[in-house]
Amino acid sequence: MDIKYKEYPFIVCLLTFIVIAVSSPAMEKKEQKSIVMSGIRPTGILHLGNYFGALKSYLRMQEEYECYFMIADLHSLTTHPDTKELRNNVLHVMSEYLACGLDPDKVALYCQSYVHETTELYTYLNTLAYKGELEKTTTFKEKARRQPDNMNAALLTYPVLMAADILLHRALYVPVGKDQEQHLEMARNFANRFNHRYENVFPEPLAFNFGEALVKVPSLDGTGKMSKSENQSATLYLSDDDDQIRKKIMKAKTDEGPKTPNAPMPDYIENIFQLMKLSGTEEVYEKYSADYNSCIIRYGDMKKQLANDMIAFIKPIREKAIAIRNNETYLKEVLENGAEKARKSADITMKLVREAVGTKYF
Ligand code: TYM
Repeated sequence: MDIKYKEYPFIVCLLTFIVIAVSSPAMEKKEQKSIVMSGIRPTGILHLGNYFGALKSYLRMQEEYECYFMIADLHSLTTHPDTKELRNNVLHVMSEYLACGLDPDKVALYCQSYVHETTELYTYLNTLAYKGELEKTTTFKEKARRQPDNMNAALLTYPVLMAADILLHRALYVPVGKDQEQHLEMARNFANRFNHRYENVFPEPLAFNFGEALVKVPSLDGTGKMSKSENQSATLYLSDDDDQIRKKIMKAKTDEGPKTPNAPMPDYIENIFQLMKLSGTEEVYEKYSADYNSCIIRYGDMKKQLANDMIAFIKPIREKAIAIRNNETYLKEVLENGAEKARKSADITMKLVREAVGTKYF
């Protein structure tokens, strides 16, 4: 092709135009961040299970996504009707969110009861949830066993309220620990039923942990998981002092050690290894694994190492949380600003919901 010099500027202009035209929709797409939602009940103070099951993902996700992280105070009423400690717990959990590094300028940090649209969506979703499936939920059966005198309706519809929290922002990703997997499956079912019965309003929300399996942090005594309000002596809290951390870890159950190389680990030993993996370095974990496999492990030394690593991890969070908890003016501001952001997103969804259902009459 014979291109004349005087045609060069024209060709450059044309190419520039093509590049801009092709790249601009892609750029727009990139700016539209996926939506993330999650929450924690203020039924006590936060522990390592909450951190490694949920908060650790929140921290990473706040850098990449549009995030809504809340304190599920309405959910807490289903099991903790006595509200004397509620205010303190809400402010404590918020202080710990902030102390761990959640940034109120990057994410919406709010309290569930401040965003009234949640309970409106809960009512709509309740019409799509069936008694049979709710009664079969593992957490309902567990709680019904534990509190037979308080089997309230909100306990039964707990997964519906949780679905409302998530769908209120049309969230796609929900960072949670392993114990919440079934609730997420139910939220997907409710979203699909709504979309089929009315209009396509909701995406299917997914339990998320950066492509890794969802986490379950075991308790220190080898029975079940760490928990806010049960089994407190076998749970490590983000507010535990150094002495408490050391004592709890040194009390963790062990035995005389394996008698044959590469022996399978009993649950309670595997738990200590799992905690070490979460809090310490790869080298330390590998060293103790090798010691175990060659039957020379000294559990006393391993627990001392684990206690030191845990103290190094928890201490800065604890100290920051205390300082933040003492600044109620700041906490009030964070809660109000967070609720405002959440309400904006909720308002858009609820307009779509009311239109889809047909409750918008003019
Ligand atoms: P809650 O308050 O029991 O726990 C909060 C988060 O911590 C995780 N978690 C654990 N992860 C690993 N190991 C453990 N031992 C452990 N203990 C707790 C939980 O999986 C959860 O991610 N129903 C929710 C609160 C909620 C919510 C929501 C969550 C209300 N609305 C909307 C997500 C989206 C609950 O009871 O979490």
